[in-house]
Order: sequence, then C-alpha cells, then structure tokens
Amino acid sequence: SAAHERPIRVWCDGCYDMVHFGHANSLRQAKALGDYLVVGVHTDEEITKHKGPPVFTQQERYKMVRGIKWVDEVIEGAPYVTTLDTLDKYDCDFCVHGDDITMTAEGVDTYHMVKSAGRYKEVQRTEGVSTTDLVGRMLLLTRNHFKQDSSARSPWTGCSQFLPTTQKIIQFSDGKAPKIGDRVVYVAGAFDLFHVGHLDFLEKAREQGDYLIVGLHTDPIVNIYKGSNFPIMNLHERVLSVLACKYVSEVVIGAPYKVSESLMSHFKVDIVIHGKTSVMKDVDGSDPYEIPKRLGKFKAVDSGNEMTTEKIVDRIIRNRMEF
Ligand code: CTP
Ligand code: C5P
Repeated sequence: SAAHERPIRVWCDGCYDMVHFGHANSLRQAKALGDYLVVGVHTDEEITKHKGPPVFTQQERYKMVRGIKWVDEVIEGAPYVTTLDTLDKYDCDFCVHGDDITMTAEGVDTYHMVKSAGRYKEVQRTEGVSTTDLVGRMLLLTRNHFKQDSSARSPWTGCSQFLPTTQKIIQFSDGKAPKIGDRVVYVAGAFDLFHVGHLDFLEKAREQGDYLIVGLHTDPIVNIYKGSNFPIMNLHERVLSVLACKYVSEVVIGAPYKVSESLMSHFKVDIVIHGKTSVMKDVDGSDPYEIPKRLGKFKAVDSGNEMTTEKIVDRIIRNRMEF
C-alpha cells in the first residue's frame, strides 16, 4: 500500500498437501493483509514427523503453491513451528493462519511464539473443504465403485459440504477482459482435484497466447466420460480451484463438451489446446475438437507430466493400505 514506506510482507506456512481452494482462499486473504506474500512449505520429513506422511511429495507441493496467483514467493522446507527468526529471516512483518489450531506431535500450538510476540493474524478457514474431506470422498468413491453399478447414481450432489457463493467467485476472479491484440487461448476439461499435471498443462497452454480461458465441463458430462463417481469435486469447487491458478484469465462455468464455432467466436478464441491425454468422443461419435481442427486453430501440447486424477485416487488407496 502506498501509505507505507516499505511494502508489508506477509508470511504463511503449512503442509499444502492436496492443495485445494480452501488453501488458496487463506492465501488470498493473507495477501490482502499486506503487499507481498511469502509462503513456507514443510518438507515431507517434517510433515511425517508431526502428522503422518503427505500424499504429495515436497517438490509437487512446492510447485502447487507457486502456481497460486496470490503467492509471491515460496520458501522450501520451512520449519513446522513458526519462529520469530523465520519471520525475520524473510523480512516478514507477521504470520497469517486460518482460525484452526495446528499442533506439533507433542501437542504444542505451532504458532505460540508468533502469537505471544503479537506477530500473528487470523483469517477465516473455508468451511466444507479439507484434505481429510477430499480423501474421504475418494475412499467413498472407490468403495461405491466396487459395490454399485456405475449407471445408477448421482454422486456429485451429495459429497460436497462447501457452499459456493457469487461473492467467492468474484474474490477469486481476475475480472479482466482480454486486451486489444491479445491472443486468446481456450482449453476445456474436467480439472478435477486440480493437480500438478493440470498446472504444468496450463503453464504450457498460457505460453501459446496472452489470455487463457478454461472451459469446465459440467458434473454430468464429466461423469459420462470419467465414469464411476467422478468428478470428486463439483463444478463450483473446480471453478475456484482453476481460478486460483496464476495462468488462468477466465473460466467458463459449464462448458459444452464439443468446442463449437459459436463459443470460439463469442470468446474470440485464437487457438484451442489439449494435452497428450486421450480425448473421448462426443455422444454422437464425433471428435469434440473437430471444429477448431477444421479451422486450423487446434494444437496439442505436452505437459510433460503424467499425473492424473485417477493416479491421485490410487495413491490415496495405497497410502491407506500401508496403515
Ligand atoms: N486452510 C483454510 N481452509 C481450509 C483448509 C486449510 O483456510 N479449508 C488454511 C489453514 O488454516 C492454513 C493453510 O490453509 O492457514 C495451510 O494449512 P495446511 O497446513 O496445509 O492445512 P490443513 O489445516 O492441514 O488443511 P487440510 O486439512 O485441508 O490439509
Ligand atoms: O483430464 P482433464 O479433463 O482434467 O484434463 C484437462 C486438460 O489437461 C486436458 O487437455 C489434458 O490433456 C491436460 N492434462 C495434461 N497433463 C496431465 C493431466 C492433464 O496435459 N498430466
């Protein structure tokens, strides 16, 4: 803020395992309390010691936090208990955390030092989403997957406890239209359980232009092509996860499966991008990218990342079985 001589530097830290829009929302609020946001992320070893092994590796977790648009800097391997030395080392004025208590393995509040020094501020935790909750949804998914036949249910309505509002969408949104001369890139997909594969893909897609629009398929469409109980996150949740990504300019909430000429002209799309993952045919048997391909406006890019939503679910199940 202009009134201050030097920018206010804010510190956040955490595990950021299975990064979700709840994490992003806490970082958004933290950033709003200052000018520059530094986020410390704990190592796998440190997390394992205090609360059990994380699902994602530290390299994956560092990358995911770097991908969130309110984050200015990531500090790798930040200590589990936040010390005043850490705040000073990174020149941060205060530390921000959600209004839940985080304890060490010994039951000590990880923020006791910054709290007693008056260098602690609290933001509101996002209700209805957590790593525990998402793991629960995945386990439910696999159990149902084996028990029920996949045609007979509507999984996406019952699971989520999150209450989406237009206010939250506005807070997450950039609110910027493309500038004159901007090359507009369009991608579409499920983007369920937004992960490092998606992040790498969106980085590559964004490099193809100046303004990136992500079309999110509706829950019933995703369910048709992913089957089982997918998607694990409903459309509203997927919107927030994708909006939190620094490469994304705009999101279409419930995009048609087939990329149409009218969609392309409406958004003045210059190029449509898809990753190297397979593309399911539309219900009429046609290629959903048939039109952009015919217009010479389609390109496949390689994210260089093999992560998929299904692999995350597999990891969770394997993790569970080790205990
Ligand atoms: N956070 C939040 N809302 C949520 C989940 C997390 O505001 N629904 C915040 C936490 O309060 C913390 C930050 O995200 O300030 C990073 O926390 P982390 O250590 O990763 O989170 P957990 O509280 O363990 O979150 P989860 O249970 O989802 O892993
Ligand atoms: O599978 P989903 O619809 O979420 O994928 C969205 C987009 O991300 C697709 O274009 C897909 O090819 C791409 N992707 C990728 N690399 C991954 C995972 C997804 O390029 N590891």
